[in-house]
Amino acid sequence: MAKLIVVNRAGEEQAVEGDNGLSVMEIIRDNGFDELLALCGGCCSCATCHVYVDPAFAGALSPMSEDENDLLDSSDQRNETSRLSCQLVFSDALDGLRVTIAPED
Ligand code: FES
Repeated sequence: MAKLIVVNRAGEEQAVEGDNGLSVMEIIRDNGFDELLALCGGCCSCATCHVYVDPAFAGALSPMSEDENDLLDSSDQRNETSRLSCQLVFSDALDGLRVTIAPED
């Protein structure tokens, strides 16, 4: 199983394992990070699953849809590494991916 490194809002880092095919949001949520609200359950309509992604993995991530881009635009916390974690499909190719839970809007 591939490893995902999650950094919470306090800056604490924890490595967790994730199955291929799950979204990064599901892996974060299933490992008990309650800071990541993921209110819409992954249907790309809430932006409460906002994370910053290690730029080293930018080329390996699922591409950003127009909907994800529009939704991220509604966040004051957006930066150039922002993604919605429910839109990132995890796989062995992302082993070692590091994501930081974005501050609350
Ligand atoms: S969980 Fe709502 S947009 Fe990702």
